Amino acid sequence: MLDNTHLHITTWVLGIVLFFIALALMKGANAKGAKIVHMILRLMYVLIIFTGGWLFFQFSSIDAALYGVKFLLGILVIGFMEMILVRTKKQKSVKVMWILFVIVLLATLYFGFSLPIGFDFLR
Ligand code: HEM
Repeated sequence: MLDNTHLHITTWVLGIVLFFIALALMKGANAKGAKIVHMILRLMYVLIIFTGGWLFFQFSSIDAALYGVKFLLGILVIGFMEMILVRTKKQKSVKVMWILFVIVLLATLYFGFSLPIGFDFLR
C-alpha cells in the first residue's frame, strides 16, 4: 500500500479539497465549521508528509537531487495552504500567498508526475 503512490495521491487530493472547503466556510462566516475542517486538514498534512516521506525514504536513492526538490516543494505547498487559511482568518492580504501557492503546487505536480514511481506521464 505504501510501496506505490496511490495512498499519497489520496491524501494530497483530500488535503486540497479540505483546504477549499475550509476557505469557503471561513468566507461564509461559518467560523465553527471552518475550525473543524481546518483541524481535519492539519491531520491530513501529517498523512501527506508521512506517505510522501515513506516514498522518499524508499526511492530517493534513484535521484537524490530531484527527490529532494519534490520533498521541499511538497512541504511548501502545505506551508502555503496553512498561510492562506491563517491569513484569511486574520483578514490579512493573501494575494502574494495565492500566487506562490499556485506556482509551487504546479511545480510539485510536475515533479511528482515526472519522477519514476507511479504515474510518469510528464516524463
Ligand atoms: C500537497 C502537497 C503534495 C502534492 C500536491 C504532491 C503531489 C505528488 C504527485 C503528483 C506525485 C506523483 C504520483 C505518481 O507519480 O503516481 C507525488 C509523488 C511523491 N511525493 Fe508528493 N505531493 C505533496 C507532498 C509531498 C511531501 C510533503 C513529500 C515528502 C515528505 C512528498 C514526497 C513524494 C515522493 C517521494 C513521491 C514519489 C515520486 C515518484 O513518483 O517517484 N510529497 N506527489
